[in-house]
Amino acid sequence: MFPDQLKNKIEQKFPELFHAKPNIYAAPGRINIIGEHTDYNMGFVMPAAIDKYIVFAVQMNSANVHRFYSIDYNQYQEVQSLGKDQKLYFWAKYLMGVLAQFEKEQPLNTCFDVVFGGDIPLGAGLSSSAALESGMATAVNHLLGLNKEPLELVKLAQKAEHEYAGVMCGIMDQYASVFGKKNHVFKLDCRTNTHHYFPLELGDYELWLVNTKVKHSLASSEYNDRRAECERAVSYFQTHDSGIQSLSDVSLELINQHPQMPDAVSYKRSKFIVEELLRVDEASRVLDLGNLEELGKLLYQTHHGLQHEYEVSCQELDFLVDETRIMPQVLGARMMGGGFGGCTLNLVHKDFSGDFEKKLTTSYQNKFSIAPEFYLVQPEDGARLVS
Ligand code: GLA
Repeated sequence: MFPDQLKNKIEQKFPELFHAKPNIYAAPGRINIIGEHTDYNMGFVMPAAIDKYIVFAVQMNSANVHRFYSIDYNQYQEVQSLGKDQKLYFWAKYLMGVLAQFEKEQPLNTCFDVVFGGDIPLGAGLSSSAALESGMATAVNHLLGLNKEPLELVKLAQKAEHEYAGVMCGIMDQYASVFGKKNHVFKLDCRTNTHHYFPLELGDYELWLVNTKVKHSLASSEYNDRRAECERAVSYFQTHDSGIQSLSDVSLELINQHPQMPDAVSYKRSKFIVEELLRVDEASRVLDLGNLEELGKLLYQTHHGLQHEYEVSCQELDFLVDETRIMPQVLGARMMGGGFGGCTLNLVHKDFSGDFEKKLTTSYQNKFSIAPEFYLVQPEDGARLVS
């Protein structure tokens, strides 16, 4: 749950600005246990929504203009048309992106007033943008009484990201923000867009995120490049087997039979994806058995692949992961999300969390002169009307 303080602040600001009573909605950020960059390769991922939220106060207006206020940035924006090429605050693009998707299906015939703010750290790879999109989609769907299915809202939010933010993301982030369930993670099949939940039972262990506090600027273009490299590999493998539609149809055996094909880079990328998909399967098996040691090893293997084969890590992430290797109380660690900064995900013994924080803070600060941030995360419910 989000802090009451956050909700109160947003609920109070709305009538100050717009002299009306809003509905309150909330949408969470996400973690991903394992299955990185596999969503847009039509494979499996294992995310959960987390107890970090964006909270929205929203109401329709008759002012003929959308009026948005971001509490965290203390920025106000009025927008009249849905055109993509206007000068907008970056956060307003996500809100407008969502409205534009609704408008594609039927005229909105109304404008919206929105006040929002949250405790999802920005640029930390916890999908604050997906939360912004899925929260706005949930609010519009509810206020207009459209009764769209949750999966429709997910797709609409993802499209907003593609078209307004220019990042050709997979479906995982928006899906997790909408379908999250308290105390559960889920295995999502990105080909069929179906999932099943299972309880996250970690016994004496906890999930800690460590925020590098860096976000290297190439992140979104590199992300789109990775997609293209994977697509190149698919085209190549299709010439061997026309049934192949994505890397999730390709076996490790087939990859191994075609070293360095279609080119050295695509080969490395596709090998990582196929291996990562095997790790997702293995992770759900060992989680069922409660074998956290094995899960931890898989996390380290994923990091290794993301660092050397998929090449989306960075020195700050690698450093934080490497530092944990000599800590027996940490079963596993890896970079999480799209890469080039953001957070590492760590499986840490409860009794060690204090030392974990101290030790990593000291070493990271000595090396990069940046104080990392630590978040203990719990799976939470997805986007919803609060009141
Ligand atoms: C970003 C994207 C997701 C997914 C991850 C990597 O978070 O938005 O769709 O591809 O990167 O797993």
